[in-house]
Amino acid sequence: MTTLIFTVAAYLIGSISFAVVMSRVFGLSDPRTYGSKNPGATNVLRSGNKKAAIATLIGDGAKGWLAVWLALHFGDQYEIGDLGVGLVAVAVFLGHLYPVFFRFVGGKGVATALGVLLGLNPWLGLATLGTWLLVAYVSRYSSLAALVASVLAPLYYGMAFGVDEKLFAVIVMSALLIYRHRKNIANLLAGTESRIGSKAGAGK
Ligand code: G3P
Repeated sequence: MTTLIFTVAAYLIGSISFAVVMSRVFGLSDPRTYGSKNPGATNVLRSGNKKAAIATLIGDGAKGWLAVWLALHFGDQYEIGDLGVGLVAVAVFLGHLYPVFFRFVGGKGVATALGVLLGLNPWLGLATLGTWLLVAYVSRYSSLAALVASVLAPLYYGMAFGVDEKLFAVIVMSALLIYRHRKNIANLLAGTESRIGSKAGAGK
Protein backbone atom coordinates (compact mmCIF):
# COMPACT_ATOMS: atom_id res chain seq x y z
CA MET A 1 0.00 0.00 0.00
CA THR A 2 2.79 2.39 0.93
CA THR A 3 4.61 1.62 -2.32
CA LEU A 4 1.42 2.44 -4.22
CA ILE A 5 1.11 5.80 -2.42
CA PHE A 6 4.75 6.69 -3.16
CA THR A 7 4.32 5.61 -6.80
CA VAL A 8 1.13 7.61 -7.36
CA ALA A 9 2.70 10.65 -5.65
CA ALA A 10 5.75 10.32 -7.92
CA TYR A 11 3.52 10.17 -11.01
CA LEU A 12 1.71 13.33 -9.89
CA ILE A 13 4.99 15.16 -9.20
CA GLY A 14 6.24 14.08 -12.63
CA SER A 15 3.06 15.41 -14.25
CA ILE A 16 4.06 19.01 -13.51
CA SER A 17 5.43 20.22 -16.87
CA PHE A 18 7.96 22.92 -16.04
CA ALA A 19 8.33 23.84 -19.72
CA VAL A 20 4.68 24.93 -19.74
CA VAL A 21 4.79 26.43 -16.23
CA MET A 22 8.02 28.40 -16.78
CA SER A 23 6.90 29.61 -20.20
CA ARG A 24 3.82 31.08 -18.50
CA VAL A 25 5.96 32.59 -15.72
CA PHE A 26 8.33 34.19 -18.27
CA GLY A 27 5.46 35.33 -20.53
CA LEU A 28 6.51 33.11 -23.46
CA SER A 29 4.41 31.18 -25.96
CA ASP A 30 3.43 27.65 -25.05
CA PRO A 31 6.39 25.42 -26.09
CA ARG A 32 3.90 22.92 -27.52
CA THR A 33 3.19 25.43 -30.30
CA TYR A 34 6.64 26.08 -31.78
CA GLY A 35 9.94 24.40 -32.69
CA SER A 36 9.79 20.67 -32.05
CA LYS A 37 6.55 21.30 -30.06
CA ASN A 38 8.13 19.34 -27.22
CA PRO A 39 7.53 20.68 -23.70
CA GLY A 40 11.18 20.47 -22.66
CA ALA A 41 14.18 22.68 -21.92
CA THR A 42 15.74 22.28 -25.38
CA ASN A 43 12.60 23.54 -27.07
CA VAL A 44 12.07 26.37 -24.56
CA LEU A 45 15.61 27.48 -25.47
CA ARG A 46 14.34 27.93 -29.04
CA SER A 47 12.19 30.79 -27.71
CA GLY A 48 15.48 32.63 -27.20
CA ASN A 49 14.94 32.90 -23.43
CA LYS A 50 17.87 31.12 -21.76
CA LYS A 51 16.61 31.78 -18.22
CA ALA A 52 13.30 30.06 -18.98
CA ALA A 53 15.16 27.11 -20.51
CA ILE A 54 17.42 26.77 -17.47
CA ALA A 55 14.44 27.08 -15.11
CA THR A 56 12.70 24.31 -17.10
CA LEU A 57 15.78 22.12 -16.93
CA ILE A 58 16.11 22.61 -13.17
CA GLY A 59 12.38 22.11 -12.50
CA ASP A 60 12.05 18.97 -14.61
CA GLY A 61 15.28 17.59 -13.16
CA ALA A 62 14.38 18.47 -9.57
CA LYS A 63 11.05 16.65 -9.71
CA GLY A 64 12.81 13.42 -10.77
CA TRP A 65 15.37 13.85 -8.03
CA LEU A 66 12.74 14.71 -5.41
CA ALA A 67 10.54 11.66 -6.08
CA VAL A 68 13.50 9.28 -5.76
CA TRP A 69 14.88 11.12 -2.74
CA LEU A 70 11.53 10.84 -0.96
CA ALA A 71 11.36 7.12 -1.73
CA LEU A 72 14.92 6.50 -0.56
CA HIS A 73 14.66 8.55 2.63
CA PHE A 74 11.10 7.93 3.77
CA GLY A 75 10.46 4.64 2.01
CA ASP A 76 12.93 2.80 4.21
CA GLN A 77 10.74 2.93 7.28
CA TYR A 78 7.87 1.49 5.25
CA GLU A 79 10.17 -1.09 3.66
CA ILE A 80 9.37 -0.20 0.07
CA GLY A 81 12.77 -1.63 -0.91
CA ASP A 82 14.59 -1.52 -4.26
CA LEU A 83 11.45 -2.54 -6.14
CA GLY A 84 9.50 0.37 -4.62
CA VAL A 85 12.27 2.85 -5.44
CA GLY A 86 12.41 1.47 -8.99
CA LEU A 87 8.63 1.87 -9.38
CA VAL A 88 8.83 5.44 -8.08
CA ALA A 89 11.64 6.22 -10.56
CA VAL A 90 9.58 4.93 -13.49
CA ALA A 91 6.41 6.62 -12.19
CA VAL A 92 7.88 10.13 -11.99
CA PHE A 93 9.37 9.63 -15.46
CA LEU A 94 6.00 8.44 -16.85
CA GLY A 95 4.37 11.48 -15.24
CA HIS A 96 6.66 13.71 -17.27
CA LEU A 97 6.00 11.78 -20.50
CA TYR A 98 2.25 11.40 -19.99
CA PRO A 99 1.18 14.13 -17.52
CA VAL A 100 -2.30 13.88 -16.07
CA PHE A 101 -2.39 17.70 -15.71
CA PHE A 102 -1.67 18.31 -19.42
CA ARG A 103 -3.96 15.85 -21.19
CA PHE A 104 -1.18 13.24 -21.14
CA VAL A 105 0.92 15.25 -23.64
CA GLY A 106 4.35 15.50 -22.06
CA GLY A 107 8.02 15.73 -22.88
CA LYS A 108 10.80 13.35 -23.85
CA GLY A 109 12.15 12.88 -20.33
CA VAL A 110 15.81 13.91 -20.55
CA ALA A 111 15.95 16.34 -17.60
CA THR A 112 13.66 14.17 -15.46
CA ALA A 113 15.71 11.04 -16.17
CA LEU A 114 18.84 12.94 -15.16
CA GLY A 115 17.16 14.00 -11.91
CA VAL A 116 16.14 10.40 -11.23
CA LEU A 117 19.69 9.16 -11.84
CA LEU A 118 21.11 11.86 -9.54
CA GLY A 119 18.59 10.77 -6.91
CA LEU A 120 19.54 7.09 -7.27
CA ASN A 121 23.21 7.94 -6.97
CA PRO A 122 24.95 11.31 -7.52
CA TRP A 123 27.93 9.69 -9.30
CA LEU A 124 25.60 7.82 -11.66
CA GLY A 125 23.85 11.10 -12.45
CA LEU A 126 27.11 12.99 -12.92
CA ALA A 127 28.58 10.31 -15.21
CA THR A 128 25.43 10.44 -17.35
CA LEU A 129 25.39 14.24 -17.33
CA GLY A 130 29.08 14.22 -18.34
CA THR A 131 28.23 11.93 -21.24
CA TRP A 132 25.41 14.25 -22.33
CA LEU A 133 27.64 17.33 -22.10
CA LEU A 134 30.47 15.72 -24.06
CA VAL A 135 28.24 14.54 -26.93
CA ALA A 136 26.28 17.82 -26.94
CA TYR A 137 29.51 19.85 -27.03
CA VAL A 138 30.97 17.84 -29.90
CA SER A 139 27.80 17.36 -31.98
CA ARG A 140 25.63 20.37 -30.95
CA TYR A 141 22.67 17.94 -31.01
CA SER A 142 20.70 17.80 -27.74
CA SER A 143 18.80 14.72 -28.90
CA LEU A 144 21.91 12.77 -29.92
CA ALA A 145 23.48 13.57 -26.55
CA ALA A 146 20.35 12.29 -24.79
CA LEU A 147 20.28 9.11 -26.88
CA VAL A 148 23.94 8.26 -26.22
CA ALA A 149 23.58 9.07 -22.50
CA SER A 150 20.45 6.93 -22.23
CA VAL A 151 22.18 3.93 -23.81
CA LEU A 152 25.15 4.28 -21.45
CA ALA A 153 23.26 5.03 -18.20
CA PRO A 154 22.12 1.40 -17.62
CA LEU A 155 25.68 0.23 -18.35
CA TYR A 156 27.07 2.70 -15.80
CA TYR A 157 24.52 1.49 -13.24
CA GLY A 158 25.18 -2.19 -13.90
CA MET A 159 28.96 -1.77 -13.71
CA ALA A 160 28.79 0.24 -10.48
CA PHE A 161 25.95 -1.44 -8.58
CA GLY A 162 25.21 -4.75 -10.32
CA VAL A 163 21.79 -6.09 -11.21
CA ASP A 164 18.79 -5.12 -9.07
CA GLU A 165 15.29 -3.70 -9.47
CA LYS A 166 16.64 -0.17 -9.81
CA LEU A 167 18.70 -1.23 -12.83
CA PHE A 168 15.49 -2.43 -14.48
CA ALA A 169 13.94 0.97 -13.77
CA VAL A 170 16.90 2.66 -15.48
CA ILE A 171 16.55 0.32 -18.48
CA VAL A 172 12.81 1.06 -18.74
CA MET A 173 13.48 4.82 -18.59
CA SER A 174 16.15 4.56 -21.29
CA ALA A 175 13.90 2.50 -23.55
CA LEU A 176 11.03 4.99 -23.15
CA LEU A 177 13.36 7.94 -23.69
CA ILE A 178 14.66 6.44 -26.94
CA TYR A 179 11.08 5.70 -28.04
CA ARG A 180 10.10 9.32 -27.36
CA HIS A 181 13.03 10.48 -29.52
CA ARG A 182 11.97 8.47 -32.59
CA LYS A 183 11.23 11.64 -34.55
CA ASN A 184 14.61 13.08 -33.55
CA ILE A 185 16.28 9.82 -34.67
CA ALA A 186 14.58 10.13 -38.08
CA ASN A 187 15.68 13.77 -38.30
CA LEU A 188 19.25 12.89 -37.32
CA LEU A 189 19.38 10.19 -40.00
CA ALA A 190 17.91 12.60 -42.58
CA GLY A 191 20.32 15.38 -41.55
CA THR A 192 17.43 17.71 -40.66
CA GLU A 193 17.72 17.71 -36.85
CA SER A 194 18.10 21.22 -35.42
CA ARG A 195 21.20 21.97 -33.38
CA ILE A 196 21.33 23.46 -29.88
CA GLY A 197 20.70 27.18 -29.96
CA SER A 198 18.79 27.28 -33.25
CA LYS A 199 15.67 29.37 -32.94
CA ALA A 200 11.99 28.38 -32.95
CA GLY A 201 10.74 26.88 -36.17
CA ALA A 202 14.02 25.17 -36.95
CA GLY A 203 13.15 21.99 -35.06
CA LYS A 204 10.83 19.35 -36.38
O1 G3P B 1 15.25 17.26 -24.25
C1 G3P B 1 14.76 16.68 -25.39
C2 G3P B 1 15.82 16.72 -26.46
O2 G3P B 1 16.63 15.57 -26.41
C3 G3P B 1 15.25 16.88 -27.82
O3 G3P B 1 14.34 17.94 -27.79
O4 G3P B 1 12.95 19.73 -28.72
O5 G3P B 1 14.97 18.93 -30.00
O6 G3P B 1 12.97 17.48 -29.81
P1 G3P B 1 13.75 18.54 -29.14
